[in-house]
Amino acid sequence: MDEPITRARDLAYVRMQAPDLSVGEKFLEDFGLIISDRTPDTLYARGTDSPHHVYILHKGEPDCRSIAFHMHSLADLEKLHREAQATPVEKLDEPGGGHVVRLTDPHGFTVEAIFGMEELEPIDAGKALPLNIDGQRNRVGRFADVKRGASTVKRIGHLVLESKRIEEAYLWYWKHFGILRTDKVLQPSGADGMQFARLDKGLEYTDHHTIGFQLCMDGIERLQHVSFEVQNFDDVMIGHDHLASDKSYKHVWGIGRHRLGGQIYDYWKDPWGRIHEHWTDSDLLNTEYEATIQNGDGARDYWGPNQQPTISYAIQKWNLTTLSNVASLIAGAVKEKLAKGKDV
Ligand SMILES: [Fe+2]
Repeated sequence: MDEPITRARDLAYVRMQAPDLSVGEKFLEDFGLIISDRTPDTLYARGTDSPHHVYILHKGEPDCRSIAFHMHSLADLEKLHREAQATPVEKLDEPGGGHVVRLTDPHGFTVEAIFGMEELEPIDAGKALPLNIDGQRNRVGRFADVKRGASTVKRIGHLVLESKRIEEAYLWYWKHFGILRTDKVLQPSGADGMQFARLDKGLEYTDHHTIGFQLCMDGIERLQHVSFEVQNFDDVMIGHDHLASDKSYKHVWGIGRHRLGGQIYDYWKDPWGRIHEHWTDSDLLNTEYEATIQNGDGARDYWGPNQQPTISYAIQKWNLTTLSNVASLIAGAVKEKLAKGKDV
């Protein structure tokens, strides 16, 4: 099959659960999201862009209930129902409204395809500082005057799923939502380690990745992280300081600049251990980009304290599968080093 069933317009939200909504609300606000609506057992949070929400937090056991894509039309939803066994089109009976169909991906995760969510007035987050850069003096006669506090999230950017079936998962998202392969990273053994994929917007430029699939080291498939664009570099940095001031949030990776995606990034765990990322300044690609295959070295970040994923980022749980995967990664890396030594 050469054509996907539909092409998603954008990532819409993650639908998460947490047992204590007041703790959850504090985290969302400290992270830089803005509560746009609430019901007795659910919070809806937005960024400064216009979608009514980009994050839903229900009261319940810590979990990710579903992920969601914005579609171009109601006809896309009907097509997914007709051709891909999605649930019938129904009204979303919650703040923000719109219509939805639901699918189940190869991991068993629920994926919502939605159309018609309410748009709110965008929020003016102010302008980045003019920078004295490349020998240009752009900020003259004024102080940097950076505000302190939480970052200001602009929009949801991407999410990564931990997967035991990276290629199968990628092909499913391509078939149903037209997601295009960007870069693949192989383990030293040659097996899939990571797959980045982006929206198909034709010649219009879009983020390097909107969804990714990462090998689950512990054999448990789950949402690995969800990621949000913030306003600018200062916004990443002040957000880092703000989150660091609350000891219930654990810093897991960064601040650095990714080699694959180009973003300046910072990763944090919420009070239930779910990884949330701030980033700014992504690489932008269109359909003219041809997918690449990288090894670990090719994926090494440009800069940062850890230019490869940290243990607390890559490993959610230690069990026998984790130990076996770690052992095979180490063995592969040693073999690669020895082989390189022989070539010299
Ligand atoms: Fe990310």
